[in-house]
Amino acid sequence: MGLLIDSPPPNLDFPSEELYAALQQRSQRGDFSTPRQEADQLEILSGVFEGKTTGMPLCVIVRNCDAKSADYAALKDIFRPGHADYSWFQKYQIFDYRGGGRASGRETLARVIAADLSRNLLQDIKIEIVSTQIGERKAAHSSPVGDNPFHWPDPASYPDLIKYLGEIKDSGDSLGGILQVRASNIPLGLGDPIYEKLSANIAKAMFSIGTVRGILFGDGYDLARRPGSQCNDQFAEGKLASNHHGGIVGGISNGQDIVFELIIRPISSISIPQEAMDKAGNPRQISIQGRHDVCHLPRLIPVVKAMLQICLADAIQYQKLVLGNAADLPSFRESLDKVDEELLTLLWRRREIVRQVKEYKQQNDLPPQDLAREREILNKAAILAEEMDLPPELVQDIIKLNLRISDRC
Ligand SMILES: Cc1cc2nc3c(=O)[nH]c(=O)nc-3n(C[C@H](O)[C@H](O)[C@H](O)COP(=O)(O)O)c2cc1C
Repeated sequence: MGLLIDSPPPNLDFPSEELYAALQQRSQRGDFSTPRQEADQLEILSGVFEGKTTGMPLCVIVRNCDAKSADYAALKDIFRPGHADYSWFQKYQIFDYRGGGRASGRETLARVIAADLSRNLLQDIKIEIVSTQIGERKAAHSSPVGDNPFHWPDPASYPDLIKYLGEIKDSGDSLGGILQVRASNIPLGLGDPIYEKLSANIAKAMFSIGTVRGILFGDGYDLARRPGSQCNDQFAEGKLASNHHGGIVGGISNGQDIVFELIIRPISSISIPQEAMDKAGNPRQISIQGRHDVCHLPRLIPVVKAMLQICLADAIQYQKLVLGNAADLPSFRESLDKVDEELLTLLWRRREIVRQVKEYKQQNDLPPQDLAREREILNKAAILAEEMDLPPELVQDIIKLNLRISDRC
């Protein structure tokens, strides 16, 4: 596994003590987690000098030392129920059956490492995550974080939970659950009304983690049941007196704790026999014998924390640009680099579409070039440029170049 961070902040301790703790939590082994033993040894290839980031591209790799491809050989050519195999194969027409690749939970290691570089932006922000439900078992209360791998906050019911997990393990099955996340000391005003809505960005970050199936901010389902009078956060003594909406309203943080629940599905690798299908479409019965978690929530917790840290750091950085006060030259440059990168991505996408148009024209015996259409594109660009107060001739030059780039496909 590896990650490359283009322009990290300089002079940060890396890797930090917190990172080692988070990595250990992500790879922890216990009765209900995978017996796979990965040392998660970071190999820093660039960007760190004498324990501190230099501001140059930071490249880290972590070798998989305990990978056993043989575990997966029996499943070659078989789409496992609940796994990403089938949909990925339909998309790419190829899949590497040896361990799930980017669909593997191992991928989340890179996120935990990346989040370590957001530390300087997060300052006093504190994130606490508890499991409030695992399978059929619910914790009687949701705070504080329990001193156990599941962050189960209800010591009285913990022995029963462990017994229940033991039964699930013996039956060869797996369990998901619900994680409750609370971030406190959140600055007011993070986010944006539409395109960078903090709630939407957090949801996207969470859904990017495998097995996340839902997110509910604040009072969640209760908001659908209760009348408005019981959902509004009213004011008292110059501040908000409640937090029904989980600290974000209109896409922007209101200074209350950010609170949300994540619905986590059980992992798909189970040893109970299941009906699968092979690449030729034949029915196959499988029982997955590799090394898997019974309940992966303990390993998910540091990943969820990492993604929330990255998301909040992004929002804080964005807010600095909005206010224009704390923005420094590197931040401006980073923003410009992002725009340039987006431009290149758009050029690439345009060329890919043109490639498809060419194929379509060939198949349908249509002439390859359409000068009237090109003129129309140039005219439209000039009109838009005028409206945006950009020089129309230069914009037209860019469009001409754009047409030439697309032509080279
Ligand atoms: C930390 C972590 C560990 C995981 N471990 C396993 C595992 O051992 N076996 C498995 O089948 N899926 C595991 N998964 C889930 C798969 O990565 C995930 O189900 C797959 O990528 C499909 O994505 P989806 O669940 O979002 O649809 C794990 C996920 C995470 C985040």
